[in-house]
Amino acid sequence: MAVSGRALALIFCFLCCYAPAPSSAAAADFLQCLSASVPSHLVFTQSSPSFISVLVSSIRNPRFFTPGTVRPLCIVTPTNASHVQAAVLCGRSHGVRLRVRSGGHDYEGLSYRSERPEVFAVVDLSSLRAVHVNQAAATAWVDSGATVGELYYAVAKADPELAFPAGVCPTMGVGGHFSGGGIGMMMRKNGLAVDNVLDATLVDASGSILDKQAMGRDLFWAIRGGGGESFGIVLSWKVRLVKVPPKVTVFTITKAIDQGAVDAVTKWQTLAPALPDELAIRVIVQNQQARFQSLYLGTCDQLLPVMSSRFPELKMTRADCREMSWLQSTVYINYGNADMPLEVLLNRTTSLSTFTKNKSDYVKQAITKNSWQKIFPWFNGPGSGLIILEPHGGQVSRIADGDTPYPHRSGVLYNIQYIAFWSGDGRASTSWINGLYKFMEPFVSKNPRSAYVNYRDLDIGENAVVGGVTSYDSGRVWGEKYFGAANFKRLAITKGKEDPGDYFRNEQSVPPHVSSK
Ligand code: FDA
Repeated sequence: MAVSGRALALIFCFLCCYAPAPSSAAAADFLQCLSASVPSHLVFTQSSPSFISVLVSSIRNPRFFTPGTVRPLCIVTPTNASHVQAAVLCGRSHGVRLRVRSGGHDYEGLSYRSERPEVFAVVDLSSLRAVHVNQAAATAWVDSGATVGELYYAVAKADPELAFPAGVCPTMGVGGHFSGGGIGMMMRKNGLAVDNVLDATLVDASGSILDKQAMGRDLFWAIRGGGGESFGIVLSWKVRLVKVPPKVTVFTITKAIDQGAVDAVTKWQTLAPALPDELAIRVIVQNQQARFQSLYLGTCDQLLPVMSSRFPELKMTRADCREMSWLQSTVYINYGNADMPLEVLLNRTTSLSTFTKNKSDYVKQAITKNSWQKIFPWFNGPGSGLIILEPHGGQVSRIADGDTPYPHRSGVLYNIQYIAFWSGDGRASTSWINGLYKFMEPFVSKNPRSAYVNYRDLDIGENAVVGGVTSYDSGRVWGEKYFGAANFKRLAITKGKEDPGDYFRNEQSVPPHVSSK
C-alpha cells in the first residue's frame, strides 16, 4: 500500500507527540505505591462509586465532561502535604503523570482531562483550603484549594478594612488563579494577585517541599504568573493584604447604541487606564449594549465630581451610586446583585449547564470609533456572546514587564476577554468567537498577538513532545503570546533547571530549555 508524504508526516508527528503511556501494570503499581502513604478513602479510581461525582465536583465547562474525554486513572484528594508528596513520588517512580486541580476553572479543562490518550492522575486540592489571616501584619496564608471567594470572606471577616486584589469569580481556585497572575477590579490600585504574593510552599518534581527561600529567585519568580502545572504543586501562598475604606462605591451604567454606546466605549479606552488608581471601570459589550461596571475605593461624594469631569458621557448621577463594604462589592460585581448574603462567596457549587469557549487579546492603541461601529454588529447575530474589557494602567502597569512572568504591563490600555456560550449545538457560537477573533486582529497587540494565560486557549498552540520532553520551539508558539519572548525564555530555562525530565506537563506547560548563553 502506498503511503503519501503527508500521511507519513502525520504518522511521524503522532509518534513524536504521544509518549508511550505507562502499562496497566505501572498504573497498578502507582496505586499500590499511593496506598502506602495516602488513606484509601482519599483515592478515587475509575471503579469507585464516587469517582464521577468527585471528578465533576469542580468542572465548570461541560465541553470536557463527555464520554470521549480522556479521564484520569484516579483522583487523589490530599488532606495534608505528605499526601501530595506521595503522589509526586509514586507518580515519578511508576511513570504516571499528575494534573493538579485547585478550583477546576481552567478554560480548557487541563486540570482534569488530557487532549491526548495518556494515563494520568488528578491531585485535587479542594480539601486543602485553610485561610489564616494575620490582621496585625496585614498578611494571610491561603491554601491553593481555597476559592477566591473563601479568601475574600476570611480576610474581610477578620478586618473589614482589609482586602485582597484578585479576580471577579468567587469559585475560582486560588491555586490556578494565582499561578496565572490574577487580574481583577483592584489591580489598578494594588496590582495583580501575584504582585502581592510574599511567599509560597511548593512540592517540586523531586517531592520536596520548598518555600520562597529554598525555591530561589527564578523558581519563586516563575510560579507567580508563569501558568499552573509547570513547576510543581503549589500548596499555599503568603499574601500581602491591602487597605480598603469602610465603604466603597459601585455602579453599573448601560448604554445602548442609540444612547451613545460607541462614543462612550471609544472614549473609555484611553480614559479608563488614566483614571485615579482607586477607580476601575470595566466594560461588558453584549447585545448591542455596553455595560460600564465600576468599583471605586471611596464614597459616592468623592466619585461624582471625578465622573462628571472625566466621563460626562456616562451621565452618572447619585442615583447610580451604591455604597457598601468591599466584601459586599465582590458579591455585587460577580452576581450583579448587592442583596445576596455574603455567604454566597463560600458556595463552591458549579453548574454544568453552559458550554463556553474563551479567547483573549491586549490593546495598546485605542480602536477608532469607525472600527467600533463595525465591531458592535458582531453582538447581534446567531451565536453571539460577549466581550469584557478590563482596564490596565495604574499599579498593574507601573510594575516592570519582567518583574513577574505576566508581561502585559507598560503601554497596555486594556485586556479583551471573548466569551462564547451555548447550551445545545455550539456551532454558531464557536463560529462567532472564531470569526470575531479574526476580525479583531488589526486592532490588537501584534508580534506576537498577546494573550492571558489564565484565559487559556489551546487554539493559539500546543506543545509537541520530542525525545520524551516538550519541545521549546513548539512552546514558543503559544508561550511568547502569554509571557513575551524574554519572560518565556526565563520560564523555560527555570523549568530546565527545576524539572529537566519534564514530569509536570500538559498541553501548554512550559518546556524545559537548556540555556545556550
Ligand atoms: P484549575 O484547578 O482548573 O487550574 C488551572 C491550571 O492551573 C491548570 O493547569 C492546573 O493544573 C494548574 N493548577 C491548579 N492548581 C495548581 C497548584 N496548586 N499548583 C500548580 N498548578 C496548579 N481570571 C482572572 O484573572 N480574573 C478573573 O476575574 C477571572 N474570572 C473568571 C471567571 C470564570 C467564570 C472562570 C471560569 C475563570 C475566570 N478567570 C479569571 C480565569 C481563572 O483565573 C483561571 O481559569 C484559573 O486558572 C482558575 O484557577 P483554578 O484553580 O480554578 O483552575
